Amino acid sequence: MIGDNVALDRISIEFGNFQAASDVSVDIRPGEFFSFLGPSGCGKTTILRTISGFQEPTRGTVEIGGRPMKGISPNKRPTALIFQNLALFPLMPVWENIAFGLRVRGMGKTERRARAERLLDIVEMSGTGDKMVSQLSGGQRQRIAIARALAVEPKVMLLDEPLSALDLKLRQHMRAELRAIQERTGVTFIYITHDQGEALAMSDRIGVMSRGRLQQVDSPEAIYNRPVNAFVASFVGENTILDGRIAAEDGKFVRFDTTAGTFLALPGPELQEGAFSRLFVRPEHVRVGGEAASNSVSAAIAKIVFEGNLITVVGRTSHGTDLTAQFTNNSTSIRPKVGDHLNFSFDPADAQVLASEPVRTKEVA
Ligand SMILES: Nc1ncnc2c1ncn2[C@@H]1O[C@H](COP(=O)(O)OP(=O)(O)OP(=O)(O)O)[C@@H](O)[C@H]1O
Ligand SMILES: [Mg+2]
Repeated sequence: MIGDNVALDRISIEFGNFQAASDVSVDIRPGEFFSFLGPSGCGKTTILRTISGFQEPTRGTVEIGGRPMKGISPNKRPTALIFQNLALFPLMPVWENIAFGLRVRGMGKTERRARAERLLDIVEMSGTGDKMVSQLSGGQRQRIAIARALAVEPKVMLLDEPLSALDLKLRQHMRAELRAIQERTGVTFIYITHDQGEALAMSDRIGVMSRGRLQQVDSPEAIYNRPVNAFVASFVGENTILDGRIAAEDGKFVRFDTTAGTFLALPGPELQEGAFSRLFVRPEHVRVGGEAASNSVSAAIAKIVFEGNLITVVGRTSHGTDLTAQFTNNSTSIRPKVGDHLNFSFDPADAQVLASEPVRTKEVA
């Protein structure tokens, strides 16, 4: 089985005069694991409801498997939806929960049971068919919910923050599980989350959203390494951010003036002449110690956070600018002390100057 593609073409959704989605266009490929990532209220659920048919777009079109979906009701679409709250029937055996949608469609009991057993294999829960749902753990229930959604053989699975009710450890385990289930079935998965770690770990591609607009659609690597604007850079991962202005171009780099000094960095794709901009550099790309050189600045160690495998060090320059460096904890890594004056430096190719409008810091639900 292979999933359908989902093409959104210039989708806008308005509630009264509030614009919940603006001009969203993306072509999600057959069998792709695609995530919409963005802060609370940015329009993720609204987009998913539009794909599933519970919400008609104000403008724009949805096509699934090449078929226009306008006027097609949710139960006639080749989609299945999974929410945070699973709505399983607790006092019904697992297998009947899974086969519930098939009974509604008039399939006989023997066939339903056989289909349920095959799906239990897919979600690695074989042998639990006769248990009651109330006897299962949160993660196990999640897998049953997925099996139930898969039972009706959707071409597209729509998942709205399905792991958010689980504890951290189980959530991390279920990421890998979900990805494996998606690969085993070949169904297109459209996944919604405000958790960047989840999106990075599971997706073929991610669409980062802010205020109803898609900011960037790219692979996890590209989203993390080459964010197109300040919103994407600050929503995904940690950064040192230096405010300033571009002084000159210098080969493939730009010379960027800040109060902490002048640095070389890559110019981002959405920069406009004269617009206010910011330099972004990831903590794992900042080195601490060594001689003063280009792209380096002296800073006093203000904070050290020991996290076992990682050490995070914050330095403050004489102008009050903070730089964050992170390195792995090994026998050769330096051991700075609070108050030490050390050089913080980074490679120009690891830093980007990005348009800072619109600047928004991480909003957490
Ligand atoms: N039926 C509706 N009527 C009016 N406004 C709505 C309606 N549905 C959603 N909205 C608004 O649209 C915006 C986007 O909502 P949506 O539920 O899509 O956000 P979200 O990205 O899924 O957020 P969360 O991560 O909190 O679930 C919100 O400001 C919300 O209040
Ligand atoms: Mg939502």
